[in-house]
Amino acid sequence: MAYKDVYESWQKDPEAFWMDAAEAIDWDQAPSKALTDKGDNLYEWFADAKVNTCYNAVDRHVEAGRGDQTAIIYDSPITHTKREISYFELRNRVAMLAGALRAKGIEKGDRVIIYMPMVPEALEAMLACARLGAVHSVVFGGFAANELAVRIDDAKPKAIIAASCGLEPGRVVHYKPLLDGAIDLADHKPDFTVVLQREQEVAQLIEGRDYNWHGFQYGVEPAECVPVEGNHPAYILYTSGTTGQPKGVIRHTAGQLVALNWTMKNIYNVQQGDVFWAASDVGWVVGHSYICYGPLIHGNTTIVFEGKPVGTPDAGTFWRVIQEHNVTSFFTAPTAFRAVKREDPKGEYVKKYDLSCLKQVFLAGERADPDTITWAQNQLNVPIVDHWWQTETGYAIAANPLGIEELPTKLGSPAVPMPGYDVQILDEGGHPMPPGELGAIAIKLPLPPGTLPNLWNAEDRFKKSYLTAFPGFYETGDAGMKDEDGYLYIMARTDDVINVAGHRLSTGGMEEVLAGHPDVAECAVIGVTDQLKGQMPVGFLCLNAGADRDNADVVKEVVKLVREKIGPVAAFKLAVVVDRLPKTRSGKILRGTMVNIADNTPYKMPATIDDPAILDEIKVALQTIGYAKD
Ligand code: COA
Ligand code: AMP
Repeated sequence: MAYKDVYESWQKDPEAFWMDAAEAIDWDQAPSKALTDKGDNLYEWFADAKVNTCYNAVDRHVEAGRGDQTAIIYDSPITHTKREISYFELRNRVAMLAGALRAKGIEKGDRVIIYMPMVPEALEAMLACARLGAVHSVVFGGFAANELAVRIDDAKPKAIIAASCGLEPGRVVHYKPLLDGAIDLADHKPDFTVVLQREQEVAQLIEGRDYNWHGFQYGVEPAECVPVEGNHPAYILYTSGTTGQPKGVIRHTAGQLVALNWTMKNIYNVQQGDVFWAASDVGWVVGHSYICYGPLIHGNTTIVFEGKPVGTPDAGTFWRVIQEHNVTSFFTAPTAFRAVKREDPKGEYVKKYDLSCLKQVFLAGERADPDTITWAQNQLNVPIVDHWWQTETGYAIAANPLGIEELPTKLGSPAVPMPGYDVQILDEGGHPMPPGELGAIAIKLPLPPGTLPNLWNAEDRFKKSYLTAFPGFYETGDAGMKDEDGYLYIMARTDDVINVAGHRLSTGGMEEVLAGHPDVAECAVIGVTDQLKGQMPVGFLCLNAGADRDNADVVKEVVKLVREKIGPVAAFKLAVVVDRLPKTRSGKILRGTMVNIADNTPYKMPATIDDPAILDEIKVALQTIGYAKD
């Protein structure tokens, strides 16, 4: 079947389409139907089924005789370590860890926060939770204690599983003090923590609260897989919204199993046993779906890579890993390729490796710019697929589904909607826009299986954030257009979310931190275009009248504050002091216009601007930090 036929078969009977896909999953009790309409625009998939994620991701492969196949390859150029874990070993390790967690009181429905770097134990912790029906929430290691505390208070975990440290090039990230600090800051206190002691750092454990990963597994009974309802939350993953309070995206168990399994063959074009590598981090949705669950559910080998595209040790790392581990499909962020391209524009490192195993490359996390795609096409000589998705959806909304049919590539477009997604471009009044015209991108409800059914403990926020703007549709928060052939173009966010090195960040959250500085009266944060990272945050500060401070000192202090409160991942390094901010007469800060000035892109003078002269002041301030150059 061609893409068009598959998409039409979904359109004709969505429920039959997904019931058919559901046959690839091993159910404890098969679903009697696909979709449950809960009213008020809320939907659930396979709600009456009983199933276990860990069984499908691990045990079933062992029972089918594939126990010797490698499940996880750990490759860490930072620690010079390589290790392989077979499905058989993985089953035993996860069952023991789950048994130890159960012995300490973790049961179905309990939340467990996982705060770990890119080590295989992070996947084992996720799978051990899934085995018990516990709901994990993985927190990215680049976040500060305060962000971890916010998540602890929202998810209210019974336990936290962490590592003693993470390793960034040239820097040890001391997880344990961050963990202790977060527990101190949070109102909710977990019953216990489990700490994986790494060779590079042995953390101090608090007697009676902190357990050593290895020690606490001695003498326990391995745990069996606990069947859970299809609509049981598999995990909560927090993502940036418009404020400093992150949104807890929920993923339901059955929908995730069915949808991710479907994507492995149809989008990523891999067969059971192939090696699939997503060079992301378990703290992001890509890590959940395509380092951990997708490849394992489908019976692939996944790679846990603890390194960077450049500097660990050089711009050839990606190609070394692909050759050495026989990678078939490779998934990374455009920013990673831009980093490699900057160091190796002519592809000298590419030539050093035999990449004949590599059949295709996928890019996501931010818009893939045509230059980067063209460079990758020229270097690698395989299809380079830009595909568009969000933490909320858990997998691609639009892609070039190589396992079905390789469609022509159009530079700048993540190609076409996947089955399950009726994507429409709407004007402000919710009317469809003609091809080629820019509008808000919305998806007709219901969303397909595996996408978010709700936000954790925040149904009103869920409805307000996603379902209110366009009744009957999910609002993606992205703006863009569709061409005559139905190809989508994702151009910008419609909210205050920015994308820095493929990481989704809230400028609103950063503004909350800046506003907390005692000398700052008013502030704004915008995302300016950056050649490497896509966007970079820049802060504008208006100081309190009478604040007798050196501007440079205040800038230094706010940069430090954002690093302490949000974390290094915010990459907040640039701020300027200005007398005033450009606003409309009703007091709305003109952030969009400030971005245009910084990027030197043409803009129309906003009709409602209070005082146009302020824009010149903004330009001068931006020039002092290297932006808005004529
Ligand atoms: N734990 C602790 N700190 C982390 C971290 C982690 N897991 N990940 C990143 N950081 C830190 C970095 O060390 C850096 O700190 P610094 O300010 O002290 O230098 C800061 O956060 C910003 O990191 P980043 O924006 O990633 O920049 P970088 O200079 O370290 O690397 C790239 C630049 C492009 C090489 C890198 O961002 C990259 O590989 N990006 C790919 C992103 C990706 O895979 N995204 C997932 C979506 S698919
Ligand atoms: P995240 O939730 O971190 O995956 O970020 C999702 C957001 O990243 C989307 O809403 C888009 O703004 C952006 N994004 C992700 N993939 C793409 C892509 N292929 N093209 C354009 N934007 C993308």
